[in-house]
Amino acid sequence: MSIIFDEKKRIFRLDTSDSSYVIKIYDEGYLLNLYYGKKIPDCNLSGFETRRRNASFSLANPVIGETSFTPDTAPMEYGCNGAGDFRISALAVRNADGNSVTDVRYRSHRIYAGKPSIPGMPSTYVNSDDEADTLEIETVDSVTGLTVTLVYTVFKSVPVMTKSVRVENGSERELVVERAFSCCCDFPTMDFDLVSLWGSHACERNIERRPLAHGVQGVESKRGVSGHSQNPFAAFTRHGSTEESGDTYGFNFVYSGNFSALAECDHNASTRFIMGINPTDFEWKLIPGGTFYAPEVVCVYTDGGLGEMSRVFHRFYNNNLIRGRYKTEKRPLLINSWEAAYFNFDSDKLVGFAEAARELGVEMLVMDDGWFGKRNNDKCSLGDWYVNEDKLEGGLAPLIERINALGMKFGIWYEPEMISPDSDLYRAHPDWCVHVPGREPLIGRRQYVLDVARADVRENVWNQMYEVLSANKIDYVKWDFNRNISDAGSALLPPEHQKEFFHRFILGTYELMDRLVTTFPDILLENCSGGGGRYDPAMLYYSPQIWTSDNTDAIARLDIQFGTSLCYPASAMSAHVSANPRADYKMKGAVAMWGTFGYEMDPRHLSDEEKELFKSQVRDYHRYYDLIRYGDLYRLVYPDRSGAAVWEIVSPEKDGFLLNIVTVCSFDYFRLIVKPRGLDPEKYYRNDSDGEVYSGALLMYAGIDCSNSIWGDHSTCVMHFTEVPAPENE
Ligand code: GLA
Repeated sequence: MSIIFDEKKRIFRLDTSDSSYVIKIYDEGYLLNLYYGKKIPDCNLSGFETRRRNASFSLANPVIGETSFTPDTAPMEYGCNGAGDFRISALAVRNADGNSVTDVRYRSHRIYAGKPSIPGMPSTYVNSDDEADTLEIETVDSVTGLTVTLVYTVFKSVPVMTKSVRVENGSERELVVERAFSCCCDFPTMDFDLVSLWGSHACERNIERRPLAHGVQGVESKRGVSGHSQNPFAAFTRHGSTEESGDTYGFNFVYSGNFSALAECDHNASTRFIMGINPTDFEWKLIPGGTFYAPEVVCVYTDGGLGEMSRVFHRFYNNNLIRGRYKTEKRPLLINSWEAAYFNFDSDKLVGFAEAARELGVEMLVMDDGWFGKRNNDKCSLGDWYVNEDKLEGGLAPLIERINALGMKFGIWYEPEMISPDSDLYRAHPDWCVHVPGREPLIGRRQYVLDVARADVRENVWNQMYEVLSANKIDYVKWDFNRNISDAGSALLPPEHQKEFFHRFILGTYELMDRLVTTFPDILLENCSGGGGRYDPAMLYYSPQIWTSDNTDAIARLDIQFGTSLCYPASAMSAHVSANPRADYKMKGAVAMWGTFGYEMDPRHLSDEEKELFKSQVRDYHRYYDLIRYGDLYRLVYPDRSGAAVWEIVSPEKDGFLLNIVTVCSFDYFRLIVKPRGLDPEKYYRNDSDGEVYSGALLMYAGIDCSNSIWGDHSTCVMHFTEVPAPENE
């Protein structure tokens, strides 16, 4: 068992492959978080239970008396509101008396092999019960009857722990959850930098690193989705840590709606971190016996810096989050019609795209927005999911037959959680859009949000989708979401449940996605939200890949992909070569090859030279497919730190690697010596481009001089190295 309970010391130690997490049941049942970090074999952590200096006046538990222990400074395992802990709280529940004083203490626990799922919600999973152990600690508020179960799972082969929380009403009276964060960690120091991912449409997931300061800081979303602005990700890395070394804790929220990730540093220079559903505009009413499930947070600890943290997330998500047929099966190489045609297509044009793309080796045509209702622009028809036969004569079947006859698969675009005011659906059901009484909802991209918090609305949209998907041979669905949620309200919810809307909406989305992937398990689902506006691990549970950004400019993509790779694997990162003018096709190919490679352009008028280049990209795509998806990523040079970006992917067996160099601006590079990482120093590797052989040690410690391989702005050099026997004269 990787979870041990020491009955005498009343201490739990939860071990992953490389980390330990220690919880103590203190006097009067207070749960304390004594340690989280590098794996330790013992738990003699006396002194870690209290933090000496009081912030202000010291408040004591009357039974424990005025000792050095006070809830205000103790490392609380799950900080509660209003009972003497004045830091940001993970839990606040309003009781029938109308106050929100909340104080849960240890009641019991259970340890078992495996990992539970969370009803109605995505979460990471075990492939077999011996992969991980779970601890559930039941806590109770003896005054209100509130029961809170803290659920921890630790994995044996990766330094990953997951946390989630179950809140139950064990009383006879109603309770209202005002906040229930999924993760609370109390670190004894604040000598960390907070790393987060900020962005906007077409500029997603830029890395920001800032030293922690006293007070509250963090990232959040109130947009109804995880959002372009901040990703539900936060890492704490020691001041001075590097890409390859230093204590680093990464947290990623398996949720697609409003979130908060907040750190508070106090006068003791200790840090509380909480991550969970954003309490703004959130409440959840619990009838007696009712249960609320707070989603999961994935916690990674490593002393190997941000680089190793990323590799752990990648391995873990590929193995324990992404599901279905395309978890392991090779995904079809696609061409998408959006940037090639926007709304302006018909069957013949699409078949023309497919014919030209097939010649290059492309395996699937994706028909993007514009195939349904009377949609010839973005002003109408969301909600009317039937084929526009003016564009696609005879419907989908004849088109798909023509595409299939070319030996290609076929994919389609949907935006199920939206409704255009100019749609048959809206005319029939104007109250089906998200709105509040008396206010005209804001409009975004000429559309409203469809209220999928309602079961009747979900049924309608599902039936429409089912009709198309069951009657046609569709291999892929792109699921889009092109605005944020304002005017949050649902016509069917009584007033005292209105604040549940945002979470109910997300649960509705999950139910729809679950229906899609269970009814059509062979369909490859790709998520999207104005590019990467809903790029979170919860979406990866349903769709193994997500459209990374509407920005397909290869230079801009460097920052976006470097940032995305902080916690999301290459297998999830959709990246297409497009006709965007800034870089040449060679560089676009190298950058897109890092993700789930594809094309997004009109392939009908390419020059012979371009065709040959594209064919060679397709060959590389097949050759390096497994390496890129399952290999270990090393971000050797970040694009913003110099004139070039360099990244490397090493096979898990260390028997080969791919080195990618692109110059953003050549000025800095009179000389470029690249030192690959993660190789076996004892092995020898041949550069497949020129046949030169080097030891792993030489490559890592001396590096190779790439100065002559790149020249000028936007130049590209991709080198693959293969393990070879040691040369005889070495
Ligand atoms: C969003 C997506 C694009 C495309 C359009 C269609 O912006 O990110 O890839 O699908 O919608 O309207």
